[in-house]
Amino acid sequence: MIEALRGLGYSAATALADIIDNSIAARATNVDLTFNWNGSGSAITILDDGEGMDADMLDRAMRLGEINPLAERSPQDLGRFGLGLKTASFSQCRRLTVASRRTGQTECLRWDLDVIAASTDDGWHLLEGPAEGSSHFLTRLDSVKSGTLVLWEHLDRIVTPGCSEQEFLDLIDRVQQHLAMVFHRFLAGPAPKLRLSINGRPVSPWNPFMPHHPATWSSPTERIPTDAGIIEVQCHVLPHKDRLDAKEHEVMAGPDGWTSQQGFYVYRNERLLVAGGWLGLGRGRAWTKEEAHRLARIRLDIPNTADADWKIDIRKSTARPPLCARERLTRLAEDTRARARKVFAHRGQSVRDAVGGDPIMQAWVAEHFSGGMRYRIDQDHPAVKAVLENAGTLAPDILAMLRVIQETVPVQRIWLDTAEGRETPRTGFAGEVPSEVHAVLEVMYRNLVARKSVPPEQARLQLLRTDPFHLYPDLVAALPDVPAAP
Ligand SMILES: Nc1ncnc2c1ncn2[C@@H]1O[C@H](COP(=O)(O)OP(=O)(O)O)[C@@H](O)[C@H]1O
Ligand SMILES: [Mg+2]
Repeated sequence: MIEALRGLGYSAATALADIIDNSIAARATNVDLTFNWNGSGSAITILDDGEGMDADMLDRAMRLGEINPLAERSPQDLGRFGLGLKTASFSQCRRLTVASRRTGQTECLRWDLDVIAASTDDGWHLLEGPAEGSSHFLTRLDSVKSGTLVLWEHLDRIVTPGCSEQEFLDLIDRVQQHLAMVFHRFLAGPAPKLRLSINGRPVSPWNPFMPHHPATWSSPTERIPTDAGIIEVQCHVLPHKDRLDAKEHEVMAGPDGWTSQQGFYVYRNERLLVAGGWLGLGRGRAWTKEEAHRLARIRLDIPNTADADWKIDIRKSTARPPLCARERLTRLAEDTRARARKVFAHRGQSVRDAVGGDPIMQAWVAEHFSGGMRYRIDQDHPAVKAVLENAGTLAPDILAMLRVIQETVPVQRIWLDTAEGRETPRTGFAGEVPSEVHAVLEVMYRNLVARKSVPPEQARLQLLRTDPFHLYPDLVAALPDVPAAP
């Protein structure tokens, strides 16, 4: 049975998070992890300064299914199935030793899968004390008044044959990133509820929402009542890459990268369960993670009274919203996705659909028709219109040229480049020097004022409503008053 339970699908990082949940539930304020590299003799310890367990508590803690999953839990309890300590540990190691100290007394029990496998009777032999030669791993427990030390040895799922020290060190990095994310709300603030360290190095929190960046959009917090308690939702759209420096952009990508980290962040008692994904929501078909929505991240707080409603699994890594909340969450997500798409597509430029009530004149229009959609150059766009009006005998040639451009928009190319480059190709003079914009702007301005006798003030206003010059209001405002044509 234990061998089967090993395959629940924990990673080293998620398994360690589950062990730390127990420390938090035991009111620990310090949790120290050590990764000891020694080839196949490597070991990992998790030490906390929580309330600890006496002999009877430890005995029950080591047994599988000693606690009823349906039992009511205290609000800060992060457990549920009464399995975590065992299943999380066995997913990574074959020998689990737990030593605990409470009211000055230290107790120590151990499971060793190889001993159980080798036993000739049917007994499950829970062993007492550390394995021979391992007691030095437990000495750190002496440094706390009360607390618990979990020791993983025979790390057969971590130190696989051929595993190098570098791979072990890389694992530490992944674990650090994961814990920084999962427990960020415990680790944050001037007086954090929890201090966490790995091999003596403190883990600093990673907040997925970048709430203090001026270019982050955040919705007000909404509370949705459900049968199993109130859930809290806050939607965020993170800044476009152009608004972040290289370091910020890399850090904010998160452990699995921007595209993977979009969607809902489900917290239960402030502990992050699910980092991204759309929870099976969507219209018709369930939404998948796409480039265009990579900047959308939504915080969702659920109480632990709602575990059954949310279908929390043993690994605490999946959740499904109850029926009564789905419609509201779908709507909020829809709105956030649309905002995120705009920020992504317009490279963080504020997208204005209108100036003073008048719509922005677009050079390209998307046309929907029964056979699908196509992109067309708008012949009313001032730049196009001006040429057509003065085209004379060239008119048919110009119209033919426009039609050719229209019929050869490199749609597939743009689509692929966006997906592969993880950003939209540049448009609207993005990244160009102002003089480039000015040169084009001036041609149009002169045409309006000098040739068509539009008063300068009105010409500037018109350009402010014309794509892409509406992105450069300062340049437009600086256009000089030139005399109209006689
Ligand atoms: N670090 C710890 N400090 C104190 N008690 C612990 C600790 N780890 C586990 N326990 C006890 O062992 C029990 C079983 O833990 P676990 O198998 O993770 O299941 P669950 O967390 O769902 O209750 C916990 O309910 C708790 O009473
Ligand atoms: Mg637990």
